[in-house]
Amino acid sequence: MSRVTSPVLTSKIMTADAAASFIHPGDNVGFSGFTGAGYPKALPEALASRMEQAHRGGEDFRISLWTGASTAPDADGLLARAHGISSRLPYNSDPTLRGLINAGEVAYIDEHLSQSAQRMWFGFYGRLDVAVVEVTAVMPDGLLVPSTSVGNNKTWLDQAERVILEVNEWQPRALEGFHDIYYGTALPPHRRPIQLTEPLQRIGEPYLRVDPAKVVAVVQTNSPDRNSDFSEPDAVSRAIAGHVLDFLRHEVAADRMPASLLPLQSGVGNVANAVLAGLDGSEFTGLTAFTEVIQDSMLDLLDSGTLKAASATSFGLSDRGARRFMQDIDSYKGKIVLRSEEISNHPELIRRLGVIAMNGMIEADIYGNVNSTHVMGSAIMNGVGGSGDFTRNAFLNFFLSPSTAKGGAISTIVPMVSHVDHTEHDVHVIVTEHGLADLRGLSPRARSAVVIDRCVDPRFRDRLHDYCERAWSERPSHRHTPHLLDEALSWHQRYLDTGAM
Ligand code: COA
Repeated sequence: MSRVTSPVLTSKIMTADAAASFIHPGDNVGFSGFTGAGYPKALPEALASRMEQAHRGGEDFRISLWTGASTAPDADGLLARAHGISSRLPYNSDPTLRGLINAGEVAYIDEHLSQSAQRMWFGFYGRLDVAVVEVTAVMPDGLLVPSTSVGNNKTWLDQAERVILEVNEWQPRALEGFHDIYYGTALPPHRRPIQLTEPLQRIGEPYLRVDPAKVVAVVQTNSPDRNSDFSEPDAVSRAIAGHVLDFLRHEVAADRMPASLLPLQSGVGNVANAVLAGLDGSEFTGLTAFTEVIQDSMLDLLDSGTLKAASATSFGLSDRGARRFMQDIDSYKGKIVLRSEEISNHPELIRRLGVIAMNGMIEADIYGNVNSTHVMGSAIMNGVGGSGDFTRNAFLNFFLSPSTAKGGAISTIVPMVSHVDHTEHDVHVIVTEHGLADLRGLSPRARSAVVIDRCVDPRFRDRLHDYCERAWSERPSHRHTPHLLDEALSWHQRYLDTGAM
């Protein structure tokens, strides 16, 4: 049976090629999609081929592409290869597009994910010409059953002049009921508190709304999400996870949080996965998550009962995880809720719930500033994503990373980060495989001592102590946060490019 049961919208069913003709050069286009889940599967290919055709004829066909977060090689990647993206927001992790951004071809507006919807509403981005949104089904009354991510879909559907829907039959029909779409946000000065006090609480509706008159095309698809596999936690990730777990035990023992902890937020990636895996089988039970992404390890935690409920904006599963979720989908109903990213990452809610935030980083400095986004201060890796939303407002935040990168050649703890995403005023705890530095309530110099002694790889420790001592003695009137700027900013070059290791 067709997933499109609204007579008005059934009349708009067409091919992806026909739908792509509604997107014009220079348009601002809002795609669905978050962490490779729920992005449009057919329209990007049709659009990329129109772009390539236009370029062959000497016409410049590029769009500004806005999404929830990352999409996939068959969305971001295809449009990047077609040189069809002039600017992109609010988050990207596609390697082809990253290359074009770092080559200066694509303008990248890397924003806190909680902010992108409201900045659209504030009018900061200009008009949205077209929304292209994947959904699971269209109901008889035209309401939309969302897909495996919600992201910015509510805002794109509301704000776009034209809407293209992709109805993906690969997504389980039983996704209906997993979503909670909040329509209560208003613009200042009319904003009211968001009445959410528990991670799983429902404050909205299970469906996305769309004005049928704006829908110009409905495309039917049957394609999987981009699911990426996690590797089994290695020794370094397990060591990092062990330090985090010990610290949480310590916090419970010190009566700073309940035995069932506080709602967890976990970034994606192998280290974050290892921490969640470490919780499974530990003494912690009855946990909750208020996070961005449901990854495989969260399903494990839900299955074992360690986790009783998880709120997020998206799935980010491996192939195996996606199959397992689909097979047992009914058992997860009532335990998982997917929301818009303006709600999953909302500062008010993160602070009220007292979230424990755990995110990865590129590097941290001895004083606790964290760089999540830029290699050598200039080349973007992914983007700030939700790490700032959670870190700044968390009850307790962690930054997790191996102590070295690039096969041990680079220390991820440096004198001064080459780019700052999270400041020393926000960061609580830094963890590497060597140990954990608790920076709460410490002065900059006390922080530097604990970071170097606990987190730095032993091969870099003396050098960093030496840096601190010389910075202290060389500038007696600058001893609050002592630095040797020329040296701090050329740390990698001094010790690596010169082969001084
Ligand atoms: N210097 C140079 N390169 C570095 C580096 C450093 N100090 N630290 C990491 N890298 C490189 C790695 O070598 C790797 O590059 P490669 O793919 O070319 O090998 C890449 O960065 C990713 O590092 P990896 O060790 O695989 O870490 P990860 O998967 O845990 O990701 C971040 C780390 C920082 C890139 C990732 O956490 C991120 O994008 N964070 C920002 C967004 C975020 O926090 N999202 C979650 C919020 S809800």
